[in-house]
Amino acid sequence: MITIKKNDEIERMRKAGAITRDVLNVISDNVKPGITTKELDIIAYDYIKSCGAHPSFLGYRGYPASICASINEEVVHGIPGNRVLEEGQIISVDVGAYIDGYHGDAARTFAVGKISDENKKLIKITEESFFEGFKILKDGIRMGDLSHAIQSYVERAGFSVVRALVGHGIGREMHEDPSVPNFGMAGKGVRLCKNMTIAIEPMVNMGGYEVEFCSDGWTVKTKDRKPSAHYENTVLITSDSAEILTL
Ligand code: MF3
Ligand code: CO
Repeated sequence: MITIKKNDEIERMRKAGAITRDVLNVISDNVKPGITTKELDIIAYDYIKSCGAHPSFLGYRGYPASICASINEEVVHGIPGNRVLEEGQIISVDVGAYIDGYHGDAARTFAVGKISDENKKLIKITEESFFEGFKILKDGIRMGDLSHAIQSYVERAGFSVVRALVGHGIGREMHEDPSVPNFGMAGKGVRLCKNMTIAIEPMVNMGGYEVEFCSDGWTVKTKDRKPSAHYENTVLITSDSAEILTL
């Protein structure tokens, strides 16, 4: 069931979204060679708690941390641990904050020190693909219009979009209907309506779109072990455009 948010719910989603955005800014300041992903997780946990919020991911289906930290060929859902960040890596950090009964969800991919031009392009195209989709959003468009805009932008740049994982509606639950694929056909799918809130999250691979699910039960990697980037925002659909709640 797709939920349409009332004004007071939207206010709460703005609050959850602002905290989620702020956590990512704090993480951004701390991503550098030598820090462990567990240290980043603790920084996120402490920040979220200091806002009076709760980390959306912690305990979700048994997930053991507040952030997902996915390095290089890891696509999403990397579990924080003792791994030390090294110059030249790219790291995708995904985080959610829950407050007053509503969730925010967002992700960014960061450079660890100096990175290759190829990786810079991967991060840039991934972010831009979100905005290619975002700019067509308004009441009444179809999901496939959004999906197609993201996919065609990514593929024109020579990269591929992950198919096995998609974005989602968000609100009282972190994952609500509808599914928000990053691939699809214009003119198809459900209609997006004013006051729906969705998390749009392109996962973009430098090589092929195929992924593997690892034996830790969470980490998703590219099949060809080429790098992958992730960019996500929680978005409110309005009558003639949309509002990003996590930026
Ligand atoms: N943020 C992820 C998403 O966008 C969910 C992470 S799964 C969790 O759907 F278990 F880590 F919460
Ligand atoms: Co999400």
